[in-house]
Amino acid sequence: VTVRQVDVRAGAGDYPVMVGRGLLRRTAEVVAGRVPGVRRWAVVSDSRVAPLHGRIVHSALEAADLALDLLTFPAGERNKTRTQWADLTDRLIAAGLGRDGGVVAVGGGVTGDLAGFVAATFMRGIPVVQVPTSVVAMVDSAVGGKTGVDTPAGKNLVGAFHPPRLVLVDPDTVGTLPRPERAQGWAEAVKHGAIVDAAYLDGLAERAPALLDGDPETVLEAVLRSIEIKAGVVGDDEREAGRREILNFGHTVGHALEAQSGYRLPHGSAVSLGMVLEARLGEALGVTDAGTSDHLARALERFQLPTRLDGPGGAALPDALLLRDKKVRDGVLRIVFLARPGEVAPAPGAPAAWAHPVDRESVRSVLGPEP
Ligand SMILES: NC(=O)c1ccc[n+]([C@@H]2O[C@H](COP(=O)([O-])OP(=O)(O)OC[C@H]3O[C@@H](n4cnc5c(N)ncnc54)[C@H](O)[C@@H]3O)[C@@H](O)[C@H]2O)c1
Ligand SMILES: [Zn+2]
Repeated sequence: VTVRQVDVRAGAGDYPVMVGRGLLRRTAEVVAGRVPGVRRWAVVSDSRVAPLHGRIVHSALEAADLALDLLTFPAGERNKTRTQWADLTDRLIAAGLGRDGGVVAVGGGVTGDLAGFVAATFMRGIPVVQVPTSVVAMVDSAVGGKTGVDTPAGKNLVGAFHPPRLVLVDPDTVGTLPRPERAQGWAEAVKHGAIVDAAYLDGLAERAPALLDGDPETVLEAVLRSIEIKAGVVGDDEREAGRREILNFGHTVGHALEAQSGYRLPHGSAVSLGMVLEARLGEALGVTDAGTSDHLARALERFQLPTRLDGPGGAALPDALLLRDKKVRDGVLRIVFLARPGEVAPAPGAPAAWAHPVDRESVRSVLGPEP
């Protein structure tokens, strides 16, 4: 099989992202070549992904005498907790994993974040290899080094930066992912196109049917470009300040919508709406070229993602946004705006700042209910 590679720059050490069909079966040789110091790998996977893909990775490592146990936890965001972190850690200790051990995370973003955090803290940190199997995890969570768990007070409140030593992406795994889950991940890919590459944005829209079907070759090309874009952005800025902020496009409004729905609105759908609404706000403020929000909406609709706020959610949005932001940052709402599709508008203070301060009146008049 042909394997394509993207190298990610990280303070803790660069790491390769390898993308290729059928790569899971070759986990042992790739891991042995790339992370040679590790004697035993524990595979962590959730209850849905373990039988589909986790076992293949575990068997490949076992055949090379590199495997410890395959540890599973119940699938779902509600299990991305300190309790699961403690349980997995205790099971690794009981299994005899030592300082010369490592963790392979096989699954979606929940598995990557949870198993990554286990590896970050186990004996003060052991290597983790990320094997993302959802589109969200492939295009977003497996690259960048953020790991962590949720608490009852909010998502991702406890965590650590722990970049992987290697990321292995096998686009064939998307075949078993439910279609609506695929669409959620493509929302983040559309965001990558929107912020730095208009041709990619339009290419995604054009290929939306194949991407929703999980066609492996089409998935491979898109995932590669998204990883290149995210790696480029986080490589410039591993620790969140500065340019990494542009990855928050669509997320200020998106997060408000998610919270407002009591987290019933899925993240990708919230970001889809968030991108269209933030573009509309940018257009009204004269920062974003006219027509940008429609351009984004057309692309997102190809993925059957929501682009219009109907019902009471729309009327409550300005308050949700302003209230939420007040809690976070002294009452000043800041949003990343596009200049046009494929280009972010620098904020006053760029390159250190990419989010523009937005006044309350604009939020109310542009995002508020029609008079
Ligand atoms: N660390 C980061 O930078 C970062 C970035 C974005 C998102 N995240 C986190 O990622 C999580 C969301 O990721 P997600 O959407 O992948 O959630 P997830 O891991 O819960 O996966 C969604 C569902 O799909 C299933 N699944 C995954 N791969 C599959 C496959 N190939 N076949 C069949 N089923 C499969 C899972 O079992 C789960 O039920 C959130 O917790 C979010 O906070 C982290
Ligand atoms: Zn996101």
